[in-house]
Amino acid sequence: MHSSRDRSIWRWFDFFPVADRSSIVSLGEGGTPLIHAVRLGERLGLPNLYLKNDTVLPTGSLKDRSNSVGLSVGKELGFETAAVMSTGNAAASVAAYSAAAGLNSVVMVPAGTAPSKIIQARAYGATVIVIDGDFDYDVAKLYKSAIQEFGWYDCLSSNPYRDEGKKSYAYEMVDQLDGRIPDWVIHPTAGGTGIYAMWKGYKEFLSLGWIDRTPKLVAAQSDAAAPIVAAFDKGLADVIPVVARETVAESIQVGNPVSLGWRALAALRESNGAAVALSDAEILEAEALTGSLAGIFAEPAAVTSVAAARKLGAVGVIGRDDIVVCNLTGHGLKQPEAVRLSENELTPIAPTIKSLRERIRSLENLLNG
Ligand SMILES: Cc1ncc(COP(=O)(O)O)c(C=O)c1O
Repeated sequence: MHSSRDRSIWRWFDFFPVADRSSIVSLGEGGTPLIHAVRLGERLGLPNLYLKNDTVLPTGSLKDRSNSVGLSVGKELGFETAAVMSTGNAAASVAAYSAAAGLNSVVMVPAGTAPSKIIQARAYGATVIVIDGDFDYDVAKLYKSAIQEFGWYDCLSSNPYRDEGKKSYAYEMVDQLDGRIPDWVIHPTAGGTGIYAMWKGYKEFLSLGWIDRTPKLVAAQSDAAAPIVAAFDKGLADVIPVVARETVAESIQVGNPVSLGWRALAALRESNGAAVALSDAEILEAEALTGSLAGIFAEPAAVTSVAAARKLGAVGVIGRDDIVVCNLTGHGLKQPEAVRLSENELTPIAPTIKSLRERIRSLENLLNG
């Protein structure tokens, strides 16, 4: 498994805080494709656009990078039950890695979480608790007391072992671009751990002399839940929590990052990066473009990176020749209902060539506005 041909994050074992290889809990996470998205890049005026396709990770989201390391340490520390509160993706991932590690798992999600995400966690054997209340306040309060009450292994993104796994983004990009360093790496952002961890990974390689420069990092958030963007714009050192509004990017609908958002702010500034808030309309358009021009179906939260690339390219912050990597952090099937179909598309036609011609014509008219 962990031979020199291993493409998982564990080829970077020495960079992770796991004492013994025998504790590794792996489902083959990491080594995801970095795709030169030529057609999408042409449309956005960014010919050097690359997509880091994390939709193909074992449970369909970036959380597998962190939970593989987190659960390996949890197993090493001798815990019997792992727990997490989550907007959905972390729940499924903690559940899967707990199953692989031989731990029980308890996941807490807010009411209104996409059923597909709850079902996924349940399928991995988790005890799923749906809580009536606001994620940032009610769910968080109960979760915190429960961890103390029951002594579970806390798998929130504030777990430092978990974050270490996301450093693998940096390692893989350096490897996949043959040592070229992207000018920009854009990451869909909730608590900011992805940004912080990528920066740490790049700095580790820099300090080893394996690379001689670092990319500018960009945090992409929904404008309905953008405390990191607000703090970045105001020049603040720490995040001021906001009450998150509803957004189609439900996986990153986090108004009160528990995971030390200040570290992400520091990483954005040190890297000379940026922070961008996107509207639901911009996000849904990015989802459609990523699917139809790059062949990747990513959930709304995940394509905030593409929406941000488009926005920063349009205003000239990102230059035409810059190398841009957009992390696509979750599969579209996590939240399939975000793709809205018209009544017309769903109404069956008579099985005749004539009806087929009519339907194709009417759908083409619809597409062309
Ligand atoms: C699809 C998706 N993208 C990105 C994130 C980013 O989280 P973070 O900013 O904590 O790295 C999350 C998790 O909340 C997510 O589910």
